[in-house]
Amino acid sequence: MITRLDAPLKVTGEAKYGADHTFPGQAYGYVVLSTIAHGELEAMDFSAAREAPGVIGVYSPFDPLKLKTATSPLFGETWVPLQTKEVTYYGQPIGFVVAETFEQARDAAGLVKVAYRELPAKTSLTDGLADAEDAPPGRDGEGSTLEILEDGVESIADAFAASPVVVEATYSTATQNHAAMEPHSAVAVWDGGEVTVYSGNQASNLQAMELASALDVPLEAVHCVNPFVGGAFGGKGRTSAPAFLAAAAARDLGRPVKSTLAREQVFTATAGRAATVQTIKLGAERDGSLVALSHDSWCSTDTARSFVEPTSHGTSREWYATRNLAISQKIVPLNVPPTTFMRAPGEAPGSFALESAIDELAEALGMDPVELRIKNNSIAPPGKDLQWASKHLDECFRVGAARFGWQHRRPGGHTDGDWLVGLGAATAMFPALRFPATVGITLNADDTAEVGTSGADPGTGLLTVLSLIGAESLDIPADRITPKLGDSALPPGGLSGGSTATASAGTAIMIAATKAIDELVALASDPGAPFEGAEVTYADGRVFADGRNMTFGELLRTLGREKLEVTGSSAPGEELTKHSFSSWGAQFVEVRVHKWTREARVSRMLGVFDAGRIINDKAARSQLMGGMIWGISAALHEGLEIEPNGRLANGDFASYLLPVNADIPEVDVQFVEYPDTLHNAVGARGLGEIGTVGMAAAVANAVHNATGIRVRHIPITIEDLL
Ligand code: MOS
Repeated sequence: MITRLDAPLKVTGEAKYGADHTFPGQAYGYVVLSTIAHGELEAMDFSAAREAPGVIGVYSPFDPLKLKTATSPLFGETWVPLQTKEVTYYGQPIGFVVAETFEQARDAAGLVKVAYRELPAKTSLTDGLADAEDAPPGRDGEGSTLEILEDGVESIADAFAASPVVVEATYSTATQNHAAMEPHSAVAVWDGGEVTVYSGNQASNLQAMELASALDVPLEAVHCVNPFVGGAFGGKGRTSAPAFLAAAAARDLGRPVKSTLAREQVFTATAGRAATVQTIKLGAERDGSLVALSHDSWCSTDTARSFVEPTSHGTSREWYATRNLAISQKIVPLNVPPTTFMRAPGEAPGSFALESAIDELAEALGMDPVELRIKNNSIAPPGKDLQWASKHLDECFRVGAARFGWQHRRPGGHTDGDWLVGLGAATAMFPALRFPATVGITLNADDTAEVGTSGADPGTGLLTVLSLIGAESLDIPADRITPKLGDSALPPGGLSGGSTATASAGTAIMIAATKAIDELVALASDPGAPFEGAEVTYADGRVFADGRNMTFGELLRTLGREKLEVTGSSAPGEELTKHSFSSWGAQFVEVRVHKWTREARVSRMLGVFDAGRIINDKAARSQLMGGMIWGISAALHEGLEIEPNGRLANGDFASYLLPVNADIPEVDVQFVEYPDTLHNAVGARGLGEIGTVGMAAAVANAVHNATGIRVRHIPITIEDLL
């Protein structure tokens, strides 16, 4: 089995993350956070902080750093700290104290006195629902509302009225923080007018763009380095506050500056997942065929309306073959920390609602929930002419049902001693996307090659993927390839987000490799070259002609060249006009609820996934396993509690519950592998996010099977099962 190339460095502590960098003369910054949820900074008294030992700089909106709002083509505007005296959430970065040591900076930050003009704050989604606003258009450019009705049907209400069986329910999901293992941090070092920033991020070239615009310097003056990222999940897509602050303070002070968020600060000074409320109504024929589906969603967002959690568009828009469809998506601006992408944004909470509702419909129909899902399998997204290029969801369910022993599921579950045992299933789906990506390939005279792109590997396995697809495309062993990533000086490699990196970078590698081989073949047959005028072919790292062959390294050496360099670029294109693309999966969960204590435990879990070609089995499995575990976490553990004053009641690792080993049984991940070469030449579709999709619903469905209790919110707690 191919091993993760970065694994030895990570487990031996050799891998250097952003904050692991230290430079001579380095100073340390500590971020000061607001302690009200809404209002204005009237004054900030830094006098005691300035006097404190080791302090060399204090910054605030009253004494700001030279920074502007950041922009990048992908994200548009990104929030930059200390630009305004307005406070819109509890825990907002409002100051930055720089000192000789981290401890001195932290101590001095505690001496800062802040006077606020406080305003009433709205922090609860329930309270805010009345003022919900239509969300801006979704990712397909579709508006916040969408209706698809079959000919002759006047309204979605008519479609429900004509449905023999109808279920309707409202579901809700909690606010979450990414809580990545590596807290957001940065080290910034200026040299003349140029800055190098070491900071975990999902795309070094995008981070360079955001920093260049925020610092108001040319893009060429910013170098971002992040070969290792300790988890990101969407929470390190945009540049974080420490990176902006460290870069600007380092410029102001003329010294390298390191800025790290303390774990508790991560919970508010970064962005997380919105809370959602979702109403789903399903109308079906008695045989289970969907007649009508409506999905109305509300999600929390900060007052800057920074992100819409697209639950309705992310799930109900495309999942099932329904004759009529109505979806709406609203945002509820609150005085809470910003929201952003989090693993399967839209699909993760959206699938909790939709897949719970499908289970409720199955019960109303007296039908097996897996059979109901297979019954409504679609060959194209509703209302679109473009069929799925490759879809084996029914096979995922059939393979999974057999492997999991689904045939033993009984309505009402069964008991095992003091445990009530139930089985639950859910569909998983995540769109197959690509971003434009460029990859550079260098063939060296010593018969090695480099495959490099600025993209990031936040634990996804991209480094190994570069090596494997590079080896396959160049037809040489993987141990002769040096993969390089996480450096904005490398060709722009897209984003490790949206489950896109393998398909995007992989396609670019194939294009670059083809160019490299074409150039090599041309070089070999050039006048004066070893195969002058001959018909040269390439295989196995060698050029062949006239019954002779030599390695590419020998050829380059013969020609007196050290290397041959090419780049290849790919972007989504014509395929989007021909087919629809998505990854698919079937999730199965067994839950045990204790008869007396009512604790719910997942005792078995299986995910069967159709994600096109699997490039690296180990990395793919790990990605899906991590996603499934996060789904258990969302279902049974995780959720931020926001107090009325906006403070997070559990914004730390002592009280923000995450599953530990004892909560997670063996995770069974299976693939049905059908390369999707209509999507991209590599045939791989994304799998970074789909693992978490459907999982929370599968747990809730299993809880219902075990106990008869339908819990329509997550996390599900003991109190829900009393
Ligand atoms: Mo992730 S939510 O694809 O960055």
